[in-house]
Amino acid sequence: AQVMNVGLLGFGTVGTGVLEIIEQHQDKLSHQIGAEVRVKKILVNDLEKDRGNLVKPEQLTKNASEVLEDDEIDVIVEVMGGIEEARNYMKQALLNGKHVITANKDVMALYGSELLQIANEKNCDLFYEASVAGGIPILRTIVEGLASDRITKMMGIVNGTTNYILTQMTKEGRLFDDVLKEAQALGYAEADPTADVEGLDAARKIAILGTLGFSMRLDLDDVSVKGITDVTSQDLKYGDQLGYTMKLVGIANRTGDKVEVSVQPTLVPHEHPLASVDDEFNAVYVYGEAVGETMFYGPGAGKLPTATAVVSDLVEVLKNKRLGVSGNSAVIPQHEKKLKTDEE
Ligand code: NAP
Ligand code: HSE
Repeated sequence: AQVMNVGLLGFGTVGTGVLEIIEQHQDKLSHQIGAEVRVKKILVNDLEKDRGNLVKPEQLTKNASEVLEDDEIDVIVEVMGGIEEARNYMKQALLNGKHVITANKDVMALYGSELLQIANEKNCDLFYEASVAGGIPILRTIVEGLASDRITKMMGIVNGTTNYILTQMTKEGRLFDDVLKEAQALGYAEADPTADVEGLDAARKIAILGTLGFSMRLDLDDVSVKGITDVTSQDLKYGDQLGYTMKLVGIANRTGDKVEVSVQPTLVPHEHPLASVDDEFNAVYVYGEAVGETMFYGPGAGKLPTATAVVSDLVEVLKNKRLGVSGNSAVIPQHEKKLKTDEE
């Protein structure tokens, strides 16, 4: 059978999940793609780390060029995190004519347009479904499922770690620091959880959603951000007694041709659908002028839900490759950016 070789950059929470799904769902993948999918090389930091019997030692390397320059590797899956190094590896992979899949919202929110342009020029795919809302296929839904509509509002809980913390503090009366440690152990938090708790991770995701949903290049600086570090147990308790649940909510709003984008702790009435989104789950509300109200719900972080999104991107890349239609993943924003100012 024909073989599609994949190179992984990173083998942590998401990377191990990707390998697991490829191995466990090989039959389905081979059927869809018409080839066997094989993870040929994996870039890691620490070659001595115990990885059980998940991989053979010869699959692992600390040398990025062994993955990026391997002529037999068709697709690079970036799940190492961080910004500059990950950006450079993705750029190098695309320039080498390889398709790229990433779960990295940090890089996509900052350098997405640069990378997508290179992908277009090189006739390569660059997909990043896992970067927003983990296991919910929200990017594809916005770009393809609602392609015919004009989206005017998106609102959602898009960070699993902070939602886990707020849920556990509210419902179980637990302490912020203890729950954060647990979210890290469960693989929900970023390597440095500052971006989670200060709202930056959610801001990156809402910038990506806004860019795609409004077809307007939105940057991280366009998002007004407030995280949950100042939220106290008392705030949660009083809110709850008054009939509200505290959630970290990202909002992207379009009025006429102007947009505003924000992330902030928000008191949501108990009866509102977002109030019942608990723990690491995410939900994204999307309003389109024709379709009306839609809502998407699912696990927003964690090994297998996130890896599902990555491997679904892989299927898409390999289907495109087979059909010879790669390189169309860059959605060029249609509208000039116009932000709503405070005075308006
Ligand atoms: P992680 O568990 O910390 O794993 C990172 C992996 O990358 C590790 O295998 C590490 O090597 C390797 N690595 C990191 N820096 C490296 C470097 N400079 N050179 C070589 N290898 C390096 O991270 P993760 O949770 O899987 O997250 C990975 C990416 O997915 C991030 O961009 C994150 O934002 C995104 N993401 C995560 C989730 C989630 O639920 N965890 C959900 C959606 C998106 P060692 O194993 O040797 O340490
Ligand atoms: N740290 C992120 C979160 C991972 O908690 O939502 C998923 O993007």
